[in-house]
Amino acid sequence: MRHLLSAGDLSLAEITSILNIAEEMHTIQGRPIKKLPTLRGRTVINMFFEDSTRTRTSFEMAGKWMSADTINVTGKGSSTSKGESLRDTMLTLDAMGTDCFVIRHGSSGAVAQAAGWVKAHVVNAGDGTHEHPTQALLDAFAMRRHFRSAEGGQSRTMEPGDNGFEGKTIAIVGDLLHSRVVRSNVLLQRTLGSKVILVAPPTLLPTGVEQWGCEVTSDFDAALEASDIVMMLRVQRERMQGGFFPTAREYTELYGLTPERLARLRPGAAICHPGPMNRGLEISSEAADAANSLILDQVTAGVSVRMSVLYHLLGGSPE
Ligand code: ASP
Ligand code: CP
Repeated sequence: MRHLLSAGDLSLAEITSILNIAEEMHTIQGRPIKKLPTLRGRTVINMFFEDSTRTRTSFEMAGKWMSADTINVTGKGSSTSKGESLRDTMLTLDAMGTDCFVIRHGSSGAVAQAAGWVKAHVVNAGDGTHEHPTQALLDAFAMRRHFRSAEGGQSRTMEPGDNGFEGKTIAIVGDLLHSRVVRSNVLLQRTLGSKVILVAPPTLLPTGVEQWGCEVTSDFDAALEASDIVMMLRVQRERMQGGFFPTAREYTELYGLTPERLARLRPGAAICHPGPMNRGLEISSEAADAANSLILDQVTAGVSVRMSVLYHLLGGSPE
């Protein structure tokens, strides 16, 4: 694997391998000393031109726990604020001997473009409204662990033909228009073999969504009853100019995971949200903090999955 730019670029065998190695990495998170020599001598630069809590921190932890040298570059503190282009910035840092760039950028396609300029490996940590492939991988990791434990089994590595997603239904609900998380999840879940139902008001549906190969509806209640996983998406106000729905109250009534809807989840069904959450808008605190919420499991999975992704890109043997 040279770069990780899109969840759609990953074969079933690659997804399986990433999730299986992540399972190994997951055991390290429970240890008092979290250190492997795997990436000693390798340099990973996190370049975040958009804000982040989870992705940036977990990539930094993932690199550090595998003994890589990790460096953070942000838009504000770098010479991009003096007008240096993204291309010149990338070429400059690449010339220093960087092994891997983890890039988040506000423009869709910017990360793929950057990958074309450098010798180093590149990971897309979110580009505009386009993709966020490591989010979809960590979501799959958390879901798979949930399915295994709901079935009473131990978490275990999977085979490409037996990955736990066949026959499962995942509803992805909310601001689909501005979400890179939904795009990466649809691509990844298509390869994993689950059924995806997309739920949103018509104003928050991306153009061409009918070609994504998913069921699309504005009836959240019907989707809720059919789903093993209900993934709520944040209303991305920072990307909205103008009104996409009449009032926050009406949005919550029709598309929020309220306490009433929480009570109507299928037995064994679980709740996901990539974070950050707008509590009280797309998700109630009752749902976010419920026993069947995987939200913090997703966060935990973020470190293991990103360790596995860096390992797959940069090589080395896991201990
Ligand atoms: N944190 C995710 C992203 O950066 C989802 C969100 O911001 O709502 O795409
Ligand atoms: N889920 C996610 O990408 O969170 P951050 O924006 O905080 O990194």
